Amino acid sequence: MSFIVAIDGPAGTGKGTVTAIIAKKLNLVNIDTGATYRCVTLEMLENNIGLEDSDEIKKLLENIKIELKNENGIQKVFLNDKDVTDEIRSKRVTEFVSQVSGIKQIRLKMASLQREMGLKQDSIMEGRDIGTYVFPDANVKIYLDADVEERAKRRLIQNKEKNINMSYEEILENIKMRDANDKAKEIGALKVAEDAIVIDTTHLTIDEVVNKIIDIINKNRSMYV
Ligand code: DC
Repeated sequence: MSFIVAIDGPAGTGKGTVTAIIAKKLNLVNIDTGATYRCVTLEMLENNIGLEDSDEIKKLLENIKIELKNENGIQKVFLNDKDVTDEIRSKRVTEFVSQVSGIKQIRLKMASLQREMGLKQDSIMEGRDIGTYVFPDANVKIYLDADVEERAKRRLIQNKEKNINMSYEEILENIKMRDANDKAKEIGALKVAEDAIVIDTTHLTIDEVVNKIIDIINKNRSMYV
């Protein structure tokens, strides 16, 4: 089996940023599992498919093609061969993705796609349920957490860099709503795996978080042959 590092935790804890840095430093494939749910959300919005429309969702899932590629060190997301890297971060996708990711048939399909991706090569996977549901036997399990106001502040800065126009209040409300939805999911709910190491990033720099996680990975990897 491939070597799997699971990085779970709520939105805005720095998962995406630290995972990308660690993937590069340790030569692991970076798998952003949230991007897979965002692709399904975008496809539903584009085709006017509602949350209750299970037949249409079934068809969509049968035909959807999602690929995560690394192009010259930059993570790119392709949906049915189209580059949607920026589009999946838009406000309309962000507002809808939490409900979409709560639909059972979508979770089952995305989890199996994510397992397929992870089994191909040694990977670092970030999400909500990697260490608890997608890869319960992951070699390393990290759970990142931070105060909700700090998380909203970080997301505001990120959004500004990406020209996404959401106020601090909108972001804070969206994060709180997503936290609640993510924790209540029937399958793959956001929770700390029993054997996960919890890191509170509220008062830590990105480098500090990266170094802590790299230390943990290296200790585990040296025992893994
Ligand atoms: O990490 P993100 O914000 O891009 O994730 C988008 C949404 O997808 C988020 O609201 C929760 C959901 N998600 C999930 O349910 N399970 C995962 N493994 C990853 C993301």
